[in-house]
Amino acid sequence: MKGNEKLLATLNSLLADELTAINQYMVHSEMCDDWGYEKLHKHFEKRAIDEMKHAEKLIGRILFLEGIPIVTNLKKIMIGATVEKQLANDHIAEEDAIKAYNDAIILAGEVKDYATRDLLQQILNEEDVHIDGIEELQTQIEQMTLSIFLTTQVKE
Ligand SMILES: [Fe+2]
Ligand SMILES: [Fe+2]
Repeated sequence: MKGNEKLLATLNSLLADELTAINQYMVHSEMCDDWGYEKLHKHFEKRAIDEMKHAEKLIGRILFLEGIPIVTNLKKIMIGATVEKQLANDHIAEEDAIKAYNDAIILAGEVKDYATRDLLQQILNEEDVHIDGIEELQTQIEQMTLSIFLTTQVKE
């Protein structure tokens, strides 16, 4: 089924966001592994996999709408040199994603593609969970101080 061109371009832009997020989370995950923060490593690793699933869904939808999925475009990857900076950068990325999905949902409604809108809504709900997870960790750091927080992240 041929999809709306503007919506297809938007889906490709969201795909670029997701591919960027995969890379950012993957690097943060491996940095935490390198530092021995096993729990943070797993946390970021799971996020990278979630974003990969989002990318898969977008690719599937673009193909269904007879568009061409563009997987060679990345946005700006923001690697944090410390755990706090990683969380801050991931928070920015998730905020941007939430805004982009909200805008895309409006567009999908405008062009009356409600099935795409539904798919975007499902992904948006998961981005909400992501930002909530980041804020939880940031609150823990604030309340425990960074050094105590980090002692909770090493392998048991
Ligand atoms: Fe995502
Ligand atoms: Fe996310």
